[in-house]
Amino acid sequence: MNDPAKFVDEALAALRAEVPGKAIVAASGGIDSTAAAVLAHRALGDRARSLFVDTGLLRAHEVENVRRLFEASGVPATVVPAADRFLAALAGVTDPEEKRRRIGTTFIRVFEEEADRFGADRLVQGTIAPDWIESGGSLRDTIKTHHNVGGVPKDSRLKIVEPLRDLYKDEVRVLAAHLGIPHPERQPFPGPGLAVRVAGLVTAERVETARLANAIVEEEVEKAIAAKTLPRPWQYFAVLLPVRTVGVMGDNRVYGEAVSVRIVESTDAMTGTAMDPPADLLRRIAERITRGSAGKVTRVLYDITDKPPATIEWE
Ligand code: XMP
Repeated sequence: MNDPAKFVDEALAALRAEVPGKAIVAASGGIDSTAAAVLAHRALGDRARSLFVDTGLLRAHEVENVRRLFEASGVPATVVPAADRFLAALAGVTDPEEKRRRIGTTFIRVFEEEADRFGADRLVQGTIAPDWIESGGSLRDTIKTHHNVGGVPKDSRLKIVEPLRDLYKDEVRVLAAHLGIPHPERQPFPGPGLAVRVAGLVTAERVETARLANAIVEEEVEKAIAAKTLPRPWQYFAVLLPVRTVGVMGDNRVYGEAVSVRIVESTDAMTGTAMDPPADLLRRIAERITRGSAGKVTRVLYDITDKPPATIEWE
């Protein structure tokens, strides 16, 4: 992104051409969709409505954090509560692609209902180049279906508008800084949320465990960044694994769950390197997750795999 001002002029003109009536904007609180939302509101004014769907698969404090981010960015967004619908759609599903499809479909159904209410026939999304490149198309085999690409059902009556579809993440960060969006260094969080960080069955209880583990990883890594014992990673998170493992609490055997911690460096998410964090940071994370989960998690592992061959998320 050499010239963000020029990009913005062109994007506003394209949005006005592509949205003759009204549009809803899928705003997740991530840097991509927030930048898309700012552009949509600038281009369309009252003809745009931004929606933030509370899927119940969000990180700790996400709703409050996102509200603040939207306010600071000048995005008037409505929160749509939909946790029960997402959990119901995921019941019994373990296959990662099936999870992504069901989440995509549920998002679209929620958006369709909200679009009908607002009288909109367009949906603005913050899809960026790696999302659709990795979702297949003619360039590659499908690695994983990013929910905002492959998850859209063919029969949807909403026409999708993607103002950032040719940008890479580092370019979006330059654009976001230019648009006055705070914290453009915020780590990415996948649209399907904690559902893809709960490997195996997604239940309310397992999501809660993953949420706790993610919050601990975020807190400890952010403390290490502030103390300059770790450079700011690209992403840092925890994944609840689909295995049970024996542990001991007091004098008792516990058959608990396992969590994998991932801390990666990257510039555009197309490739990534597992970082080598200080051992005391990892030990503190393990101790806090096992203690904080009250025996639910009995083992914590550190993921040392680069991308490729692994992807950044587990699912
Ligand atoms: P992977 O796991 O494919 O992730 O190496 C690359 C980057 O994309 C994020 N990610 C997603 N973002 N919808 C999104 O908006 C998705 O379905 C999705 N899946 C992965 C991931 O966190 C990483 O930054």
